[in-house]
Amino acid sequence: MAERKKMSVAEILAAARAQGGGNEAPAPAEAAAPEAAVAAPAEAVDKPAAKPAVKSAGGARPSVADIMAMARANKSEAPAAAKPAAAKAAAAKPAADKPAAAKAAKPAAKPAMARDTASILAAARAGAKPGPVSKADAPARPVKPAVAKPAAAIDHPAKPAAAKAIPARPAKPAVKKAEGEEDRRGFLEIALGSFMAMGFTALSVTGGLFSLGLARFFFPNVLAEPPSKFKVGFKEGFPTGKVETKFVAQYGVWVVNSDVAGQQQIYALKTVCTHLGCTPNWLEAEQKFKCPCHGSGFYKDGVNFEGPAPRPLERYAIRISDDGQLEVDKSRTFQEELGQWGDAESYVTV
Ligand code: FES
Repeated sequence: MAERKKMSVAEILAAARAQGGGNEAPAPAEAAAPEAAVAAPAEAVDKPAAKPAVKSAGGARPSVADIMAMARANKSEAPAAAKPAAAKAAAAKPAADKPAAAKAAKPAAKPAMARDTASILAAARAGAKPGPVSKADAPARPVKPAVAKPAAAIDHPAKPAAAKAIPARPAKPAVKKAEGEEDRRGFLEIALGSFMAMGFTALSVTGGLFSLGLARFFFPNVLAEPPSKFKVGFKEGFPTGKVETKFVAQYGVWVVNSDVAGQQQIYALKTVCTHLGCTPNWLEAEQKFKCPCHGSGFYKDGVNFEGPAPRPLERYAIRISDDGQLEVDKSRTFQEELGQWGDAESYVTV
């Protein structure tokens, strides 16, 4: 069993030199013995053992270079031979043991990695497995699960994202509703503003009219009546027997120069019929006042003589003013039936 221990290259070289120390060519069996000892762990070692036997069969002594070449060839073939062994072991196991076969295959694949001679020799001497020479030799870490988890995590949140997107679609109608609401609000604001403007306008107009009415209350209507006293001119302007009618329209007065009871007087007759208040007309040709309403007739001195009139016409007060003109005062009247025509203020003597 000690002979089957794996020999190092130095031991192989020493054994070859020891064998080459003699002049006799090594026998194929003897030459193969060290080779077999070297290749004992693997079955494939037997094949290289035949090569030196062939060379030695020629009778020539193998040189050191040849021995090294053979040794190197054996080294290189040994891992290759190990692979079939591992494959056989994997094939012998059931399919359920595949993980185990994969584990066994991994160490077999490791020696195939590129290494320098020094590390190979050191590993062979120490009998320990060399570690990864570089980061490239290190086994790849199982990154996929770590990557898959975030992917799955992304897939799950994707649903809430889609759920969020779904409510986002109704957001457009919400915007339309907002626009419609803004339109309605604008319309209501305009309508309200219009109504308020109309109300304020009506209120302002009403206030203005009320102010005008109040101001009109402080300034009541005043009839623009002619003054009660007015001047008609000098006595010379009224000849005897003359009835002046030019003051009828403006003052409602006839100024008459006539003989009354043997006295020439100038007096002012009121142009109002004593029947119902109509205005009689002076008829020069008939020398009488004739009422157009009911036919009452009055003489030149104003006494009634026909028609429904119950009494004579009335006189206004008359006097000579300071400037010598005749002045009529309508604020005072004189009635014949009351004996007032005898009053000196009811006439002016000529
Ligand atoms: Fe003059 Fe009747 S009003 S007669």
